[in-house]
Amino acid sequence: MSETAPSDQHGVASPRKREALELFAELPRRYDALSAALSFWQDPRWRRALVSAVAPRAGERVLDVATGTGMVAAELLSRCECSVVAVDQSPAMLAAARARFAGEPASRIELLQGQAETLPFADRSFDALTFTYLLRYVDDPAATVAELARVLRPGGRIASLEFGVPPLAPARWAWRFYTAVGLPTLGRLASREWAEVGRFLGPSIRGFYERHPVEQIVGYWRRAGLEDVVVRRMSLGGGVVISARKSAAGGA
Ligand SMILES: C[S@@+](CC[C@H](N)C(=O)[O-])C[C@H]1O[C@@H](n2cnc3c(N)ncnc32)[C@H](O)[C@@H]1O
Repeated sequence: MSETAPSDQHGVASPRKREALELFAELPRRYDALSAALSFWQDPRWRRALVSAVAPRAGERVLDVATGTGMVAAELLSRCECSVVAVDQSPAMLAAARARFAGEPASRIELLQGQAETLPFADRSFDALTFTYLLRYVDDPAATVAELARVLRPGGRIASLEFGVPPLAPARWAWRFYTAVGLPTLGRLASREWAEVGRFLGPSIRGFYERHPVEQIVGYWRRAGLEDVVVRRMSLGGGVVISARKSAAGGA
């Protein structure tokens, strides 16, 4: 399936954005099962930790950005009587999310096609915000974090989940071997589309942290007016959950 890339204000979609759209156009069908299996069933646990970090409460309005097939949104809804707005730029991934939430009342879940870089919401619209595996796909992670913080109310909670590179040497060597050999092989066994994911993921994660080390990402969060930033490395560092709250002064 080919998808039209959303573009910037000059009508130009960056190569990174085009690649992300092409990559996710073919993945929704088996995304949930394969993303769990390829992470040795760790990423469902990471998503639960992400949702616990924002601790949604009844009556709150929560934004889930890069919702994909809606797994984080579903976890948010399962925790309490909150309502969730879920945004993704990929029509194919959103179609899978629509199927997942077909039985949910519109008052609880709203699915929107949109871009994390330019969210279609007023300042301070949400009580809490989650985003998953997003920043590797945007051109300017610092500006994107600022845009996400903009739509959060002062005192609101925000958390992200991203793959990580294990910091300790033996785990890092195992991670390098898995992402260089294991993941591409397993991806090839799954399908042509997942073979591409298997090849792409390791270099994408490594390259991202070379350009944006975790400490620098924490700096992006602080500069966006987010405080009490906590970094939680899970599964020896293969998953990284970052959480914070927007300062009461609030910025935007
Ligand atoms: C690896 S999937 C993660 C999906 C889901 N949140 C999960 O828990 O697995 C990454 C998602 O980010 C979306 N995405 C990438 N860049 C985006 C952007 N700039 N704005 C909105 N969504 C984006 C992709 O379309 C894809 O659905």
